[in-house]
Amino acid sequence: MLKIGVLVSGRGSNLQALIEGIEQGKLQAKIEKVISDNPYAYALERCKKHGIPYAVVKRKDFKKKEDFEKELIDILGKVELVVLAGFMRILSPFFLSHFPQRVINIHPSLIPAFQGLEAQGRAVEFGVKFSGCTVHLVNEDVDAGPVIVQAVVPLFPSDNSNTLAERILKYEHRILPQSVQWFAEGRVKIKDRHVLIEGAKYGTLPVNPELEKF
Ligand code: GAR
Repeated sequence: MLKIGVLVSGRGSNLQALIEGIEQGKLQAKIEKVISDNPYAYALERCKKHGIPYAVVKRKDFKKKEDFEKELIDILGKVELVVLAGFMRILSPFFLSHFPQRVINIHPSLIPAFQGLEAQGRAVEFGVKFSGCTVHLVNEDVDAGPVIVQAVVPLFPSDNSNTLAERILKYEHRILPQSVQWFAEGRVKIKDRHVLIEGAKYGTLPVNPELEKF
């Protein structure tokens, strides 16, 4: 059972996908702790409902970013993987060095396109014909670490940022638990910028590598 910590800032629908994967027996992980930097995050209601331990750590309660991150590290304890599921803060090398190559993030674009905030709205504005979502390892650059898996979704002329976000979100809820499961199975092999999922099928579907249980 892979021990994971999940960092959130808001709605927590990706956290919910992890919870459901675990409850359905498809995801061999245990959520040791959820931490929100936002006391009003709906994600916390989900923790209450499912009996998951959670903590709120507000950035403004700490003078220095390092002290805020020290608190996160203390609370996370001995987790084997840190999952950023809609966590809207940039973590420093200080934090990352505590969990080397063990912090992953879900982002609603095909990185390196549309890194940062409002990714779906900017994709609509730009007029791209495809966007999607990415699970990647977190490094010191924003939404720029090595890619674990990406899923592609089309854009239609009638789209706005909400309709695109909704279409992308359905895949976020699949590729995030799938990625965690690949870590749980010990199949994630990292060489510099390249992540290989051992035994996975790399094919022609709009999700690569192809998903297995999710
Ligand atoms: C998701 O769309 C996630 O990809 C995005 O925030 C949303 C959180 O939703 N994350 C980022 O933009 C990070 N750069 P959720 O709280 O319902 O999981």
